[in-house]
Amino acid sequence: MLARLGATRLLEIRQALRLTPQASRSFSTALNYHLNTPDNNPDLPWEFTAANKEKVKEIISHYPSNYKQSAVIPLLDLAQQQHGGWLPVSAMNAVAKVIEVAPIRVYEVATFYSMFNRSPVGKYHLLVCGTTPCMIRGSREIEDSLLKHLGVKRNEVTKDGLFSVGEMECMGCCVNAPMITVADYSNGSEGYTYNYYVGQ
Ligand code: FES
Repeated sequence: MLARLGATRLLEIRQALRLTPQASRSFSTALNYHLNTPDNNPDLPWEFTAANKEKVKEIISHYPSNYKQSAVIPLLDLAQQQHGGWLPVSAMNAVAKVIEVAPIRVYEVATFYSMFNRSPVGKYHLLVCGTTPCMIRGSREIEDSLLKHLGVKRNEVTKDGLFSVGEMECMGCCVNAPMITVADYSNGSEGYTYNYYVGQ
């Protein structure tokens, strides 16, 4: 009931403000709330490619048949790679269908883990570690330099669609602080890479 009231209220605010899709996205991200936009709504068809359908089978084969919902994280990861680095609601629904759970079970996971992006990112998504050891070793200054160089704010995409900069929590490489990760979505899931770099 409360959720429905909240959704109605948000819709009214959105209509009153006549939010553009980009503004709707920022609004949704700030409130951790999904609002339908032309490029992110449950009516957009989405399915795994033929090659990825084979990968889906392989991923699910790692789990007992009555626990295939445990494959939710690797399947979301694959869907994100296929979709250029982010997860529209229709991709999350496709994952829910594969593992035969209610879509909310997939949304809960995708909204909890910061490795899943729910709005578009650049072909090269740079993630700067924001946890204490990296911060002490200058990660904030590195992030500021990247944002200044690219002319964007955190989580914004450059106009050419190539770069975006986000923050990540400890990458488990504190001994090499400060750390940066580059997720490369420029070649789909086939050519996807995710590499760590030492920031100094
Ligand atoms: S704090 Fe940055 S890798 Fe651990």
